[in-house]
Amino acid sequence: MSAPRKLHIKSYGCQMNVYDAQRMVDTLAPEGFVETASVDDADLVILNTCHIREKASEKVYSELGRLRVAKDEAARRDRRMDVVVAGCVAQAEGEEIIRRAPVVDVVVGPQSYHNLPQLLARARTEGRALDTEFPVEDKFARLPQPKPAAIRARGISAFVTVQEGCDKFCTFCVVPYTRGAEVSRPVARIVEDVTRLTESGVREITLIGQNVNAYHGEGPDGRSWTLGRLLHRLAAIPGIARLRYSTSHPRDVDDSLLEAHRDIPAVMPYVHLPVQSGSDRILAAMNRRHTAAEYRHAIARFRAHRADIAFSSDFIVGFPGETEEDFAATLALVGQIGYAGAYSFKYSPRPGTPAADMQEMVAPATMDERLARLQDLIDRQQHAFNRAALGTTVDVLFERTGRVPGQIVGRTPWLQPAHVMASDDIIGQVLPVAITGHERYSLFGTLPAGPGHAAAGARAAALNGG
Ligand code: SAH
Ligand code: SF4
Ligand code: F3S
Repeated sequence: MSAPRKLHIKSYGCQMNVYDAQRMVDTLAPEGFVETASVDDADLVILNTCHIREKASEKVYSELGRLRVAKDEAARRDRRMDVVVAGCVAQAEGEEIIRRAPVVDVVVGPQSYHNLPQLLARARTEGRALDTEFPVEDKFARLPQPKPAAIRARGISAFVTVQEGCDKFCTFCVVPYTRGAEVSRPVARIVEDVTRLTESGVREITLIGQNVNAYHGEGPDGRSWTLGRLLHRLAAIPGIARLRYSTSHPRDVDDSLLEAHRDIPAVMPYVHLPVQSGSDRILAAMNRRHTAAEYRHAIARFRAHRADIAFSSDFIVGFPGETEEDFAATLALVGQIGYAGAYSFKYSPRPGTPAADMQEMVAPATMDERLARLQDLIDRQQHAFNRAALGTTVDVLFERTGRVPGQIVGRTPWLQPAHVMASDDIIGQVLPVAITGHERYSLFGTLPAGPGHAAAGARAAALNGG
């Protein structure tokens, strides 16, 4: 056997890119590739790009400039370094990347990364290769599975893609163009993936999709299943402690999902439900297909099914035509909902989207000022949410050792990082933690369940399915 080749992969953007990066590693493992943290000793470098933000492609080109230096240096030492651009910039601007950046050997879109071994072989024999097709076959069915050791190395929490692409066409967004039409994976395939992960010690699964609650995959009964029904099925898999899903669209909140929150203890009470704006005029211009009142109603339905549910959201400030009054409606909505956290972004025109042609751009200084006000409000809400945990006992799923020696870090049901001093054999367990302190983004506490505390021990055993 030849020596292992080294692969360096750098991922940007959403959770789906994180997941795709892992699957690219799995695809290349049978080819003899192992991951390396440094670019300099890599035989293969993959940039897994995101197209959502302003200057996304410029950032890719400047990264490629740095890689050209590393590649030349490798060549001087008689070593070949292949450079791959993957992800959503590859999909949107593949041909231009090939034209502008000779350092790139392979361009591969998000729907084609199962072809990476063949594309790399082609690049070596015939020269540079591009694959940005939207193939009809299921790429997931053609991907090699990760080995148990690889699963364990990634920790006790894992992503599984259940749905990909989007048919919503919000006027600001590139995703429908870079990820293609909405496709749901069959229930049986997802059950296989989740079973394999739990058999290697994974305790928490986050189901991911650009519009995950629009899930409508084929069930074993030949019918189309909803996300709620899928969650029911997955909760029955031995070893599952927690189920999450992201990202949801307010239009696709159906009763089965609400009932899943009410009926399945493993479904965590934390929902990312982006609204983008609180102004109906702007929501219409964004083609969001919901009003602020409909969004508030969706939140109320969740809360009626599970009172302790918390929400996060995405916001865009400075969408074309946004007035002070529109922005005030966004602040008002945030005030009414009360978020546990949120992401907010300045609008940036994305080439090829309808909003990019809209006039009435909001002045950059106005955008900055609105972003600061919105973030300040969200920050205060997040702070209040974390402060409310003080003095309570919450279940924490422990994930890893912390930066301080002896510290173990996990997450509460509401995704708050929680730190305790304990031995690392609690990693992978859900244990009740008494919260004694907090910072803006994290909680600190103690484990009441010392040996001999029968009640706490029994509770821990129940939480862990023992
Ligand atoms: N499918 C999800 C998320 C899509 S992208 C949804 O429907 O909400 C993640 C976030 O990036 C979006 O929610 C939006 O807030 C932000 N975003 C997308 N395009 C943008 C643009 N052109 N300018 C600024 N923010 C944008
Ligand atoms: Fe983009 Fe809208 Fe689809 Fe979300 S729902 S991915 S914001 S087009
Ligand atoms: Fe970015 Fe593509 Fe995800 S544009 S946010 S990597 S779907």
